Amino acid sequence: MTAAVQVEDLEVRFSDILALTGATLRVERGRVCGLVGMNGAGKTTLLRSVLGLVRPVSGVVHVDGAPPAKARRAGGIAYVPQSEDVDWDFPLSVQDVVATGRFAHQGVLRRPREGDREAVEAALARVGLTALADRQIGALSGGQRKRAFAARAIAQEANLLLLDEPFAGVDTGTQEDLTALIRELAAAGATVLVSTHDLDTVPALCDEVALVAGTVLDQGEPAAMLEPHSLARAFAGRSLA
Ligand SMILES: Nc1ncnc2c1ncn2[C@@H]1O[C@H](COP(=O)(O)OP(=O)(O)OP(=O)(O)O)[C@@H](O)[C@H]1O
Ligand SMILES: [Mg+2]
Repeated sequence: MTAAVQVEDLEVRFSDILALTGATLRVERGRVCGLVGMNGAGKTTLLRSVLGLVRPVSGVVHVDGAPPAKARRAGGIAYVPQSEDVDWDFPLSVQDVVATGRFAHQGVLRRPREGDREAVEAALARVGLTALADRQIGALSGGQRKRAFAARAIAQEANLLLLDEPFAGVDTGTQEDLTALIRELAAAGATVLVSTHDLDTVPALCDEVALVAGTVLDQGEPAAMLEPHSLARAFAGRSLA
């Protein structure tokens, strides 16, 4: 059967920096796969490769058996970037940001239809941001921003969710809400790749874990991947680039 995400022997360089080499990952539909590794390990690079935004030196990335650009253009991939990668001064309201999740559902004129408005409203309600819908995105707290991007992913109705550090800087309540939400989306058939530094969140969130350290060192059950000898390889195997 075709995997939802298939990465084969991927190599990515940024000029002379080798970000990933020999990275292989396979994630089946409806699974939540955690990407665990230290700063600079290549987690964001791996997510952006799956999104088709990074041009690899070599290797293959397939989403549902095809190059990622196809699924991305069809709105099939929702990406929640790491907070540092977002321009928070952009003059968009929370509602606007969530509505961008509907673009692939609209025609070239991007004229929102009733269904689009309903999807945006429902997504905002689901993450508890209805009251803040008109607020500029930069005028939200860190946790509220994460919720706003989660709402965009929900409104998009994507089959594949790529979440880059969704728990960084959020409180326990928001973390639990986001975990429950991600599990619900996976139960409904979505595939999720989620990078995290926070190992405590992994057992409740992930069906499997990929250890990232300039490559994918190993992929397997969370309990096995979180054993000290496995973690030691991921966290000691590479100096900070
Ligand atoms: N646009 C870029 N230009 C040059 N080097 C980059 C670029 N993006 C990433 N890198 C380098 O590639 C390597 C992997 O970075 P990446 O952002 O994928 O790591 P990460 O695991 O997401 O780290 P973090 O936990 O800090 O978010 C690092 O050495 C980084 O410095
Ligand atoms: Mg990163």
